[in-house]
Amino acid sequence: MSEKPRFPPSPAWLKSRHLRPWRAEPSAVGSRSPRRSSKTLLPNLESTTRGQTRLEQYRQIVLASRPKGVPVPNNFRLETGAVPSPAEGQLLLRTQYLSLDPYMRGRMNAAESYAAPVEVGEVMEGEVIAEILASRHPHYRQGELVQAKIGWRTHAAVAPETVRRVETRGNAPTTALGVLGMPGFTAFSGMRVIGRPSTGETVVVAAATGPVGSLVGQLAKRVGARAIGIASGAAKCAYIRDQLRFDVAIDRNSGRLSDALAWACPDGIDVYFENVGGPVWDAVLPLLNRYARVPVCGLIAHYNAAQSPPGPTSAEVMQTVLRRSVLIRGFINAEFATEHYDAFLEEVGPLVKSGDIRYREEIVDGLEAAPNAFVGMLAGRNFGKLLVRVH
Ligand SMILES: NC(=O)c1ccc[n+]([C@@H]2O[C@H](COP(=O)([O-])OP(=O)(O)OC[C@H]3O[C@@H](n4cnc5c(N)ncnc54)[C@H](OP(=O)(O)O)[C@@H]3O)[C@@H](O)[C@H]2O)c1
Repeated sequence: MSEKPRFPPSPAWLKSRHLRPWRAEPSAVGSRSPRRSSKTLLPNLESTTRGQTRLEQYRQIVLASRPKGVPVPNNFRLETGAVPSPAEGQLLLRTQYLSLDPYMRGRMNAAESYAAPVEVGEVMEGEVIAEILASRHPHYRQGELVQAKIGWRTHAAVAPETVRRVETRGNAPTTALGVLGMPGFTAFSGMRVIGRPSTGETVVVAAATGPVGSLVGQLAKRVGARAIGIASGAAKCAYIRDQLRFDVAIDRNSGRLSDALAWACPDGIDVYFENVGGPVWDAVLPLLNRYARVPVCGLIAHYNAAQSPPGPTSAEVMQTVLRRSVLIRGFINAEFATEHYDAFLEEVGPLVKSGDIRYREEIVDGLEAAPNAFVGMLAGRNFGKLLVRVH
């Protein structure tokens, strides 16, 4: 039988499972927090403080109800149960890190999208880095690290076709969920296929300290373009300038976004990598140059919105598109994977290793912290790639 406690879990519940409360842990530039030492484990068994063993329980977070606007704790539910035994040919995974990504907000809606929604009662979707606790497949051995889309859960028994070995070109395993994973590839492919910046051009990106935006600007700099980053708050802006080495950082909450952007882009904007929509897009539109390119990657400013926000009318947008021969192209990273993923790892992997490409992670502890951290990300409270350390 599954227990179904509510969020947030009570201090007593956390204590009974030896869990710590939520803690944000910004890691150093280009690095990650040290791994906690792993316990000695047998499949399905967990050490106790007295040196005895007891059955290990899985924990998972399911969609309890669909949010109206900003998600609230009651939209999530924690469930527990006995860890599954892998069938012949399967692998038993134990999650080390769960990636929290903006797209998950879309999966909480029933509305049609490029991917099917998570049904109420189903596990929240998500990609993890997991350790193989037990292998019943000849090609995998216990202890190997793999990536898998098993969702917000601590354990899963899966077919090997649904996992792939973590490949980070010698970088920390967590980079496989960020700068060297799906978000990094999104930046790389969106810039390579659609943005195509060249020397002297001006590239603008918002959510500029996150795993997508931070790589967009750094790739722009590498081809000799100017990079303008937009983010919230002084600390993020300082990071964009001093660590990511963009040319200008703009605080989106400064109240003078249009003026600041016009000042930062005296020659107009050649590539606007659209991560956010909303007021940033409104400020960008008048500054787009002839032949500007707009890879439309994400619209996070609208993810919690119940209705369309005010802004330029579609007629105004289309007039700009026509008069200035602007290319606006939406994309989902997966469409470019076959052609460009190998090149991405080949090119960006060594640059991360050498420190020429920088990244930042924010790691929160414990699966139970995922809902709060996720909701915080939708409001810009994360600073870097948001991960949950699960084990
Ligand atoms: N098309 C694809 O295949 C694909 C793949 C991955 C990601 N994406 C999209 O790429 C974007 C960035 O993703 P990420 O993983 O790198 O996320 P992220 O930057 O780590 O986190 C999201 C950031 O969005 C910013 N934000 C939140 N609300 C905002 C608002 N109302 N207006 C402006 N900015 C707001 C916040 O940054 P600040 O507070 O610092 O501004 C927040 O930290 C998202 O839109 C995501 O959906 C698309």
